[in-house]
Amino acid sequence: MKTIITNGVVVNAGGEFRADVLVEDAHIVAIGHDLNAEGASVIDARGAYVLPGCVDVHTHLDMPFGGTTSADDFFTGTKAAAVGGTTAIVDFAIQSKGESLGAALAAWKEKAAGKAVIDYGFHVAVTDLTDETLAEFSELVAEGVTSFKLFMAYKGALMVDDGTLFQALKKAKEVGALISVHAENGDVIDVLVKEHLAAGLTEPKYHATTRPAGVEGEATGRAIFLAEQAGAPIYIVHLTCKEALDKVRAARDRGLPVYAETCPQYLALSVDNYDEPDFEGAKYVCSPPLRDKSNWEELWAGLITGDLQVIATDHCPFNFSGQKEMGRGDFSKIPNGTPGLEHRLLVLHTLGVHGGRIGMSKLVDLLCAAPARFFGMYPRKGVIAPGSDADLVIFDPTPDSVISAATQTQNLDYTPYEGMAVKGAVRTVMQRGQLVVDAGAFVGTSGAGEYLKRTPFVGV
Ligand code: URP
Ligand code: ZN
Ligand code: ZN
Repeated sequence: MKTIITNGVVVNAGGEFRADVLVEDAHIVAIGHDLNAEGASVIDARGAYVLPGCVDVHTHLDMPFGGTTSADDFFTGTKAAAVGGTTAIVDFAIQSKGESLGAALAAWKEKAAGKAVIDYGFHVAVTDLTDETLAEFSELVAEGVTSFKLFMAYKGALMVDDGTLFQALKKAKEVGALISVHAENGDVIDVLVKEHLAAGLTEPKYHATTRPAGVEGEATGRAIFLAEQAGAPIYIVHLTCKEALDKVRAARDRGLPVYAETCPQYLALSVDNYDEPDFEGAKYVCSPPLRDKSNWEELWAGLITGDLQVIATDHCPFNFSGQKEMGRGDFSKIPNGTPGLEHRLLVLHTLGVHGGRIGMSKLVDLLCAAPARFFGMYPRKGVIAPGSDADLVIFDPTPDSVISAATQTQNLDYTPYEGMAVKGAVRTVMQRGQLVVDAGAFVGTSGAGEYLKRTPFVGV
């Protein structure tokens, strides 16, 4: 089966150029002009960009968390991702205490199989490190799990101590895996939460005051210290603020292999959202929390200088009704997480490209190429090149629309971006040569997504 995409502007991380893209079966076979497209069906991309399918390396689908389960499963979540121009995700298989890492991976593969409409891989989140689980790292790398996550927060649940993180870093370095870290000081947060509740401070806004920016900055610095001691690279997830970015920048200025991602919510929303009336501030409760607006330009500066390399969503959706509401009267019981898998490209195109901060090729680097490179999927994903998977997005940069829960695909009763005016629209999405979105409408198939066996981390 052959398809040719004509008249579009092809965008890669390295630049943009006008060319046709020829797809045969699941792969891109040629890019250029006057291609031999005999027998091919034609998709006209006039007036639009042709982007590599976006890659979201931080999602939580069907995840038990905070006494409930995230509202998107692998069908609804990946369908929403596709509609928004994302064709590959890396989710988290979370190890329960006493469980083997292999069992955690198997459990999450089971959740995704037969449901995911786009390709998916897994990081394994390590919560219980023993000699046995440490020995599993190399087996998991062989199975395509080339990244692990450890949490420095969520005391009494997912949090690990420094010794555990240090051991994991050393082992990961040995087996060719990348350690990513949720960097917040969980001990300090625990004390602050208890103090706030004892003082009767129970509203959603106290989620932010119990997790101040310094708590993230300290943990980021400590994680970097542990990585340096281990001689290992490290990737900081969902970085939100100047205090943490300064630590990353200082380490990188010393030449250390320290990398970090931020998320759309930290560029578009702020601590002010926690003040929304009628408990609606709970919609924005995620960890680390939203920060004051001065951090927006700090994060943009980090993205532009390259100290932040990736924008992922940390999509962790909980309905307002029945889920976020679990924390009425006690902010610490609000399940932590915000949705965003569907809207990442639109929000970032609007703020970044339309906002005059970055060009299209930088956008493609942040959303497609860099995440694929860090997490062992490049050049299969993240680039438009001969031999790459035919994961392609035709993106029209001109339409205006407004984000609303009423029109979203995510399985959720709200969006934190409600009312945001956005520029651009996803017209067509192709995954491995098959249409999954046509004229903006989902046409994909449940179960068509394949497990991504990722390659070892070799540095970027
Ligand atoms: O609030 C968040 N971020 N929830 C998801 C779990 C995590 O920490 O990534
Ligand atoms: Zn986290
Ligand atoms: Zn997360």
